[in-house]
Amino acid sequence: MAEATTTAPATSPNGETEPKPKGYEGQTFLVGEEIYVRGIEEEDAKAVTAWHDTIFPTSTSRAATIIKEDLPKQWSARKNTMLLVRKADDRVVGSVVIISSWPPGTDLSIYVDPMLGAAGARLKAEAITMIVPWIAEENQKPVIWIELASDEALAIAAAERIGMRETARFREALWRRGQRRDIVAFEYLNPTWMATLGDPNAIELERSGTGQPRPVTPSVTLDVDPPSHAVMVGKRVYLRALQKEDAEPIARWSRRETEPFWDAGRFVRSPVLFAHWTQEEQKEDPPEHIWWAVCLRENDELIGQVGLIDLDLVNRYAETGSEINRPDYRGGGYGSEAKHLLLEYSFERLNLHMVRSFVIFPNTRSAAALRKQGYREAGRFNWAFNLNGTYGAVVVFDLLAEEWRALPRG
Ligand SMILES: CC(C)(COP(=O)(O)OP(=O)(O)OC[C@H]1O[C@@H](n2cnc3c(N)ncnc32)[C@H](O)[C@@H]1OP(=O)(O)O)[C@@H](O)C(=O)NCCC(=O)NCCS
Repeated sequence: MAEATTTAPATSPNGETEPKPKGYEGQTFLVGEEIYVRGIEEEDAKAVTAWHDTIFPTSTSRAATIIKEDLPKQWSARKNTMLLVRKADDRVVGSVVIISSWPPGTDLSIYVDPMLGAAGARLKAEAITMIVPWIAEENQKPVIWIELASDEALAIAAAERIGMRETARFREALWRRGQRRDIVAFEYLNPTWMATLGDPNAIELERSGTGQPRPVTPSVTLDVDPPSHAVMVGKRVYLRALQKEDAEPIARWSRRETEPFWDAGRFVRSPVLFAHWTQEEQKEDPPEHIWWAVCLRENDELIGQVGLIDLDLVNRYAETGSEINRPDYRGGGYGSEAKHLLLEYSFERLNLHMVRSFVIFPNTRSAAALRKQGYREAGRFNWAFNLNGTYGAVVVFDLLAEEWRALPRG
């Protein structure tokens, strides 16, 4: 092993000073053939390009703020970032982020310094092989997911070798070295939990609706002034920016919810927190999330919201979300009309290439609405939330801009 960086001696509990161990010296787990995993340290700010998953520039001082301020906040939100370090020379080569904010599932994302090229691909494969079994066996997590690009052959082979299965595929979501690639989601179902709960893939999920795509309800051109803040106007509804004042009716309707199943149970919203959230989201430029109020054209009443989550303007994709807050307006096509306004905005104004959507089952109406809007089923994530003494599935969908453009207009 090459020499590691020299650092100041540490003080042990009995007051004696002992030299800081070098590299992976004394480490008993998460040490592989070529790399090992360790926690992030202040000095790692200098190696930020190797571990911070962004294509934009990050200076050492910005990295120091990320380490001291952003990562502790994420850690409190059950998102833990650790580093991948090369054993041979103690060089930081990447990072692993473990997200367990919504038990029982764990999301894993592994980033390897793109400057390492083919060697980096090998290290990512090794990281998968080392980390997934550790999360399953030691953290006793029932299910672990990782999203890979369809051209990451070594990482995919490693995932399959340790027993992960492809569980969803989001077509053409990524733009990598001049070509569009799929996001392939792999799922590791912990065999210990499978022995108790059985194979969740054997469970057929209930469907509702005809499953047939319907004509797109396009936006309309007005010969009068548009409603205040409107960005897209349809036949019956329009989309406008969410205002602080919308928080009160949205909170009120959250207490009048009639259906317990959506989003894994009802929840009560605070107008204060909702207003704060809308204002915070709108500060970001470019934004990561965009939410619009859905209002009736006939009386400007707010009936729901539609939005984009995790907007990625480089790869040109996002997750779509919708909720008609007033139960009396569900099942009447208002949600689908609002969604088509959102899709038109996403594809024709933001120039997105594709969108995806996640439905917590048994929300069969939401899935039926997506199918009628032209989305295709892309797979499912099993054991994604607690349900009736076991775990339920999230069914996922995707839709390409070109597919949406080819749908008939009504
Ligand atoms: C999901 C939602 C946005 C869809 O909007 P919508 O205006 O209700 O949808 P539509 O009326 O266009 O389509 C609903 C489809 O579900 C079917 N459906 C209607 N009521 C249903 C019910 N109670 N159970 C199951 N399916 C139902 C309809 O038949 C229709 O399909 P079809 O036209 O093929 O027959 C809306 O229902 C909603 O906000 N629900 C609560 C929040 C939610 O679930 N959000 C999505 C989270 S992923």
